[in-house]
Amino acid sequence: MWKKIFGNKDPEKVPSDTSWMDGIDRARLPRHVAVIMDGNGRWAKGQGLMRTAGHTAGVKTLKRILKTASDIGIEALTVYAFSTENWKRPHAEVDFLMKLFAEYLDKELQEMNEENVRIHFLGRIDGLSGNLQKQVREAEELMKANTGIRFNIAANYGGQDELVRAAQSIARRVLRGELSPEAIDESTVEDCLDTCGCPPVDLVIRTSGDMRLSNFLLWQAAYAEFWFTETNWPDFTPEEFVKALVEFGHRDRRFGGLNDAGER
Ligand code: FPP
Repeated sequence: MWKKIFGNKDPEKVPSDTSWMDGIDRARLPRHVAVIMDGNGRWAKGQGLMRTAGHTAGVKTLKRILKTASDIGIEALTVYAFSTENWKRPHAEVDFLMKLFAEYLDKELQEMNEENVRIHFLGRIDGLSGNLQKQVREAEELMKANTGIRFNIAANYGGQDELVRAAQSIARRVLRGELSPEAIDESTVEDCLDTCGCPPVDLVIRTSGDMRLSNFLLWQAAYAEFWFTETNWPDFTPEEFVKALVEFGHRDRRFGGLNDAGER
């Protein structure tokens, strides 16, 4: 994959070509970055193409951003590929997206594995087709021992749905007598989320101008910083991703308290 992203360049030499990464203060990097990859349809319209062409172009951007995040040393990257609400789209578009996910897994799995990526899926995977479910589970199994970037793909995912599933799972434990209601705390909930084992989201990036969370990672993004750009996802570049990371490094994060200077 890395080779494909950077054309014919020797993947070993890719880091020496990334001088635009120099502004990054590694001590102030986000551990977990979440991305709402919006604007595929608008990009396609602007090019006089079908909406589906925007999704195909969006896959190329995703590959570049995963490579960049991994190179920089981001611990976890979570992308919003398909929401529980996206089923409302025309059948042909939904069908196209499902085929695109299957093709992506088919083509990229081996190289992602070689690059030590640990893929994981968030959402109601049991709502996907039988074949896609099989691919998802095989991909997770193949990469489960990898130690590189954790790459979460949210597919058939909704933040509210995830919290409902967590509540159901906790209620079942209470009913079985394994847990008392008083013992339920934040970590009980976190352990039941699809992102279990990931650090909280530090930075949410949304492309294409809209400024909302759209039911994405409602719990995990409780103290996230937000970064918005007008750029449509297919045009989003590694340079712009790095710009978001650099700006994140300048944010004053207080988590409800005071900063180091004792100020709000
Ligand atoms: C939002 O743009 C994008 C999506 C609903 C699909 C995202 C999917 C990809 C980027 C394809 C690659 C994903 C994987 C995991 C292979 P939109 O269609 O809502 O654009 P619009 O708001 O301009 O209409």
